[in-house]
Amino acid sequence: MKITVLLCSHRRNKNTRQMADFFLEGLKEGNDIEFVDLLDKKIEICLACDYCRRNYGHCILKDDMEGVIDIFKKSDLIVLATPLYFNSVTSRFKIFIDRTQILYNAKYNFKDPIFKEKKSVVILSNGGAPKYLGQFDGIMVELKHFLGNINADVLEYLKYNKTDEVMIRDNKAAASELKKAGIKVREALSQQKDAGSHDDHS
Ligand SMILES: Cc1cc2nc3c(=O)[nH]c(=O)nc-3n(C[C@H](O)[C@H](O)[C@H](O)COP(=O)(O)O)c2cc1C
Repeated sequence: MKITVLLCSHRRNKNTRQMADFFLEGLKEGNDIEFVDLLDKKIEICLACDYCRRNYGHCILKDDMEGVIDIFKKSDLIVLATPLYFNSVTSRFKIFIDRTQILYNAKYNFKDPIFKEKKSVVILSNGGAPKYLGQFDGIMVELKHFLGNINADVLEYLKYNKTDEVMIRDNKAAASELKKAGIKVREALSQQKDAGSHDDHS
């Protein structure tokens, strides 16, 4: 199984990566894991030029976006790992999301989705402040259409706060919960695979 982890933090190897590492502990054996760190990718801001509205599946910007979409297409599970910035995803992630307008236009204007098969997604998020009302509210609002663009169902959504006081790597409860979630997702994916292979033979 191919698992892709999209790292959307503006810092390397901090809470977001730590969340992903704990989550993968119960999941990585026997699976092909690829980390895509947005810090390593050149992804320009969408020009809103409507080129992808007129040209199916094509963007006028030539950068790393197409490569990441190709990786997503080949993935069975996509892990979206983002810190909380102003109650929502990071700006790097938002830039990435806007560039999936190419997928939106393929699906709704050309009526020929690029992501035809269902994808499974896990969302991992962390906020630095202690819990407050509405802290993570922006995440799912931001991700709703994006998940539609990649035809994804959310298997798990884990989020932790107060990371500016206690990092994920020092938070035993978070570490244990993340590992358990990884095992649960592993089971869910293998059940999906079994169901799929039965469908193939029917
Ligand atoms: C620009 C910016 C905005 C942030 N906004 C919030 C916020 O709205 N709520 C919150 O709880 N933490 C906020 N934080 C704190 C981060 O969510 C926190 O430090 C997080 O653990 C960073 O993830 P990382 O360790 O992977 O970089 C913000 C941090 C930055 C740099």
